[in-house]
Amino acid sequence: MDLHIGLLGCGTVGAGVVSLVRRRAGKVADMTGSRPVVKSILVRDVSKDRGVVFEHERLTQEPRDVLEDEDIQVVVETIGGIEPAKTYILQALSRGKHVVTANKDLIALHGPEILRVAAENHASVLFEAAVGGAIPLVGPLKENLTANEVTDLKGIINGTTNFILSEMTTRHIDFEEALDMAQSLGYAEADSSSDVDGLDAARKLVILSSIAFHTQVHLSDVKVVGIRHITATDVRYADELGYVIKLLAVGRDHGGELTLSVRPTLIPKVHPLAHVSDAYNALYVRGDAAGDLMFFGRGAGRMPTASAVVGDVISLVRNLKLGYVVSSPNGTMSYKPVVEREDERYKYYFRLIAHDQPGVFAAIAQFFGEANASMETVLQKRVHGGCAEIVIVTHEIPSASARQMQLQLQDILHIHSVECVMPVESAAE
Ligand SMILES: NC(=O)c1ccc[n+]([C@@H]2O[C@H](COP(=O)([O-])OP(=O)(O)OC[C@H]3O[C@@H](n4cnc5c(N)ncnc54)[C@H](OP(=O)(O)O)[C@@H]3O)[C@@H](O)[C@H]2O)c1
Repeated sequence: MDLHIGLLGCGTVGAGVVSLVRRRAGKVADMTGSRPVVKSILVRDVSKDRGVVFEHERLTQEPRDVLEDEDIQVVVETIGGIEPAKTYILQALSRGKHVVTANKDLIALHGPEILRVAAENHASVLFEAAVGGAIPLVGPLKENLTANEVTDLKGIINGTTNFILSEMTTRHIDFEEALDMAQSLGYAEADSSSDVDGLDAARKLVILSSIAFHTQVHLSDVKVVGIRHITATDVRYADELGYVIKLLAVGRDHGGELTLSVRPTLIPKVHPLAHVSDAYNALYVRGDAAGDLMFFGRGAGRMPTASAVVGDVISLVRNLKLGYVVSSPNGTMSYKPVVEREDERYKYYFRLIAHDQPGVFAAIAQFFGEANASMETVLQKRVHGGCAEIVIVTHEIPSASARQMQLQLQDILHIHSVECVMPVESAAE
């Protein structure tokens, strides 16, 4: 028996879904007795070349050919963005169709509403591809690790920024040049702001944290700093000090209170996350029973993302055969406030430009001493124009102190500018 799928969108991911469904149809039929078949595909332009040869699949510009077709049991959404994807998904669910989506923006912003409508209509919504491309993250957090209290999520979950920072590290180039390369190679979109300003990673962190910590977090809960201000100079100093700079997403459950952040962070070269390069993604998960786990793989791309989408489709086919639906990732959710913990301790990297005069270093050392921030490493380089560049890595200090020091340093007589302040990850916890 055929199980009909309606596909919304047939771009990078959608075209991969068409070919992978075809490739696996026979195997799924052998396993479940149902052969998945893509019946109709909604696009904007039916004449466009999509790098895939269509056989029995029908391309259409009419949404109701997918949403109102009684034969279609599963709708796969690969349009992206909020509208019209949200309206189409809600329409499909309200007709009792099951939905698979790769849309992180939509799930991060409207996940609770979509899951509620799904539950009201006894339909399933699966979204493994929304975070981490091919890497199984949603499934393990939702199912395999459910016996754990997950306390920590820490990872590199945006491939574009990781590619840019990797290029800056290996080629010693500035941010703008690395961004141009990412765009010309198709790793970054023409409008790259969502990636480079950290929003894409923040949305993924919202999805992962809501599942891992059994609560509902919002995008505004995440403290986000992007990578635009990172310079080749910072990357070079980080390298000299034994670190690499990564855009790190961190979610922590401190006994019922959460902290969530996405920000550039110095990672020791010996740390496994330091070796996650190019467009790869990785996520560390700490569970009270499982201990530390690391998930690693391709976070984007046609076939890696199709792998996660079609994996969800096959789960649905299996579930339908068994007669159950998956309507909520979390079951009953608890309320956990998201806070900014002033006492969270990190080492910090400070890069300052100071007037190259006698007594400057003594003044800076006195300032750090009075702030109770002992220095682990100090580099001082002469730069032009009568100014010297000073890089300091502190021992662990509360994040509130680092913020306050950053502000107060501007007022020290001999300091010309505070160029960059970043947290530094420990080698091992
Ligand atoms: N690309 C990746 O590596 C990747 C990785 C993980 C997750 N995702 C997610 O997967 C989703 C799809 O991404 P993508 O890269 O495949 O996007 P894409 O290449 O831009 O494809 C979007 C598709 O949607 C169709 N579309 C757009 N607006 C439409 C509308 N109003 N009505 C009908 N069809 C419409 C387009 O039709 P036309 O072709 O006719 O213009 C196109 O086929 C997004 O949510 C994205 O965040 C992507």
